[in-house]
Amino acid sequence: MMDAVLPRSKTALIVTSPPYPGVDQPEPDYATFVDPKDFNSSHDFLKEVWRVCYNLLEDLGRLCINIYDIPSGAAGMYPNVARVQRDCLDIGFVLREEFIWAKGASYSPPSGSFPMPKGVLAANTFEMVLVFQKPLQFSQRRVDPSKIHPEVQAASKLGSDAHGWLMDPVWHISAEREGRKLGHPFTYPDELVERLVKLYTYTNEWVVDPFVGSGTTALVAEKLGRIGYGFELSDKYIAICEKRFAKGSLF
Ligand SMILES: C[S@@+](CC[C@H](N)C(=O)[O-])C[C@H]1O[C@@H](n2cnc3c(N)ncnc32)[C@H](O)[C@@H]1O
Repeated sequence: MMDAVLPRSKTALIVTSPPYPGVDQPEPDYATFVDPKDFNSSHDFLKEVWRVCYNLLEDLGRLCINIYDIPSGAAGMYPNVARVQRDCLDIGFVLREEFIWAKGASYSPPSGSFPMPKGVLAANTFEMVLVFQKPLQFSQRRVDPSKIHPEVQAASKLGSDAHGWLMDPVWHISAEREGRKLGHPFTYPDELVERLVKLYTYTNEWVVDPFVGSGTTALVAEKLGRIGYGFELSDKYIAICEKRFAKGSLF
């Protein structure tokens, strides 16, 4: 779908959070895998999406994937992070960076045998952001920052806040509530996307999200002067995107 709509090698950045293998469908409108508990077939599907992302990205473009490992009772955890790393390296991406999104309060407290030892399970308070890069295909395409228009340079230059994000890759950002209030069960916070867009793009560049949900990635990209595109299967969530965009345009 994405590759039928968007041209190859034009996108500077992809920021996304896919449906997580191991997580049950939260409501009928939420599009997910045929069987989310089937680790291999769910990741086989995601791998095809990462392959399309690779084709859409320009040389040195970044793919940022928010995902984490899901506890699954007796079988242990679904190692989603390791599997996405393996699949993306397999496709040809380079793994450049890993940020930890520290979400703060957990939805579920410590469990298992707690307060007795040995069978305890930790609360889930963090997720990963894996930053992959498409390697240079043709050396003459390398971007020379000094050739970027001075106005774009001025609008995109990173400040002391970004210095802090790079000094400490544990990002303390509380979990987003707005998308949830509007009716999407799993959204990420604007600030998470804001950091990635500022770190990895100049203004006027393309930012894409193949699983846009309530529209967070596209909305933040547009707010920061980039060009945002998103894809979503659920009509209910597309309606939420439209509502959020209409509200954003008031400012
Ligand atoms: C984790 S949510 C993304 C939420 C988003 N980051 C936000 O802040 O609103 C994943 C989304 O992917 C959508 N989805 C699942 N399969 C899809 C597919 N094949 N194509 C497009 N969207 C899909 C789901 O309906 C869901 O809204």
